[in-house]
Amino acid sequence: MARDILKTLKAEHNVLRDLFKQIDATTERASKGRVELLEKIEANLLPHAKWEEKVFYPAFKERADRDGLKTHAEAVLEHAAVEETVIPHVKASDVTTPEFAGRVKVFGELIDHHASEEEDTMFKMARKLFSAEELAQFDEDHEAWKASTAATAAITGAKAKAGARSTAAKVSQAISR
Ligand SMILES: [Fe+2]
Ligand SMILES: [Fe+2]
Repeated sequence: MARDILKTLKAEHNVLRDLFKQIDATTERASKGRVELLEKIEANLLPHAKWEEKVFYPAFKERADRDGLKTHAEAVLEHAAVEETVIPHVKASDVTTPEFAGRVKVFGELIDHHASEEEDTMFKMARKLFSAEELAQFDEDHEAWKASTAATAAITGAKAKAGARSTAAKVSQAISR
């Protein structure tokens, strides 16, 4: 079967949806499981999101019409909201608390919403904007990029930013208490 980036990205969304289902089902006593699942979520989400931001979204934007540009803007802002606000707040909460469970639920809901929007709108547009050969080429590039030093750098950078923001979130929570 021919390679197809849109199928690959959708499969990656489904892996994330499944991990969020698992973490939502954990209780406060399963702190080790929560930490491990959160790490798995990040390990799957970051390479996916960073490649979309660096390669797929710019390529899509170049060919998009007005509706496409709107979809592109929505997706970019959702990525930023997750990276700059949601993940730092999740990381600023103690895994043994209901606060963590609530924040992780919002995280999962946002990812599910974002992934569904991509699948139902952006990917449908992309299927018309790109040829089958181009979608196959993207799929090869995506696989190669994930194993590259550029990916490692992008992921390390995103993690460092999230870490710094979660420290800031902890400080502001402590002040507002
Ligand atoms: Fe995305
Ligand atoms: Fe995606």
